[in-house]
Amino acid sequence: MKIMSIAGARPNFMKLAAIANAIKESNAIKPASPIIHIIVHTGQHYDEKMSHGFFNDLGIPKPDINLEVGSGSHALQTAEIMKRFEQVLLSEKPDALLVVGDVNSTIACALVAAKIEYPKGVGRKRPVIVHVEAGLRSFDRDMPEEVNRVLTDSLSDMLFVTEQSGIDNLVREGVAADKIYFVGNVMIDTLRQHLEKARKSQIMDELNVLKPYALVTLHRPSNVDARETLQSLLECLVEISREISIIFPIHPRTRNNIKKFELEYVLEKSDKISLVDPLGYLDFLNLTTNSYVVITDSGGLQEETTYLGIPCVTLRENTERPVTVDVGTNYLIGTSPSKIRETVNEILTGNMKKASIPQFWDGRAGIRIIQQIINFTQ
Ligand code: UD1
Repeated sequence: MKIMSIAGARPNFMKLAAIANAIKESNAIKPASPIIHIIVHTGQHYDEKMSHGFFNDLGIPKPDINLEVGSGSHALQTAEIMKRFEQVLLSEKPDALLVVGDVNSTIACALVAAKIEYPKGVGRKRPVIVHVEAGLRSFDRDMPEEVNRVLTDSLSDMLFVTEQSGIDNLVREGVAADKIYFVGNVMIDTLRQHLEKARKSQIMDELNVLKPYALVTLHRPSNVDARETLQSLLECLVEISREISIIFPIHPRTRNNIKKFELEYVLEKSDKISLVDPLGYLDFLNLTTNSYVVITDSGGLQEETTYLGIPCVTLRENTERPVTVDVGTNYLIGTSPSKIRETVNEILTGNMKKASIPQFWDGRAGIRIIQQIINFTQ
């Protein structure tokens, strides 16, 4: 059997690592009929720090194919991936196409696979389309990721979900129950597997970081693409830095916008905010585990902090990962500066919500997925 996996942007790589590992584990058990795993990197993220470094950190095999699409508008990037990927799919003809998450690469490749026609004699008309991390919904169609999620799910044959809300959303949208598999969270597989290694990272010494500190990430277009919003969030961070120092690994989109809007002066008001380049997986995980609180608009970080039991203040109005709020450590509070300050201050007094780890976030999601794909395709 041949499985082709797609990775394009940073949050995909942690998920792909768990899949690659699970395939390796499955092949070790059944060496007589190994799964052939082809990895396609679309090139959506291309900087060393946003891409290749993750393959090294996570021990993911080097991509077999790189489409090298680079940046562009949504339409341009999606279309370019589709154009280049069609040729790859026709020449490799995998039995299953596995896409993860919600980035432009995810929908682009799923859409190509849904309409492809393999030549006669291949044994199947098109690959089985597998979506890992299906069913998540923010119910906010202004988020490009939400559009990608809904469309990818509607094209997929096998939908693997991380939490109960995923099942509820898919059933409500009319997806047949026998296509939905509740398997847990591949990102947590990867986190568990790399935690020991991450603890040994020297990044705190390298960056001269002292505890306690808050770890900040911001990159959502709704938070960083408009001058006013970005300025208000940066001002708020300056205020918070009077209570706790801040480490802020900065996404290229955010860095570009700070420059474009000439907002450097806001951050210069505080000497307790350290701006650093995007970090590799192990270094970032080290900083997460050692942080007092995480302040973010990321999707995946809401889940990682819940697993680690670290309070996470999410600067968004909605989350597609409600289990992190219901049972985890996530505070979903929007972007009002007073609310952000109030929540962080409350956490700093040591008054934090009690949390637990969601069902099946146990390090075995990848292997469950591979097992189900084997059963389905045979
Ligand atoms: C993408 C995903 C988002 C994910 C995020 C994680 C979509 C719709 N969005 O958003 O869900 O949370 O990745 O990082 O797929 N750039 C670089 N170097 C790179 C990549 C990007 O400098 O390696 C710059 C470019 O100026 C680019 C901008 O960052 O235009 C944004 O990159 P893009 O891939 O369009 O979206 P992200 O904001 O990274």
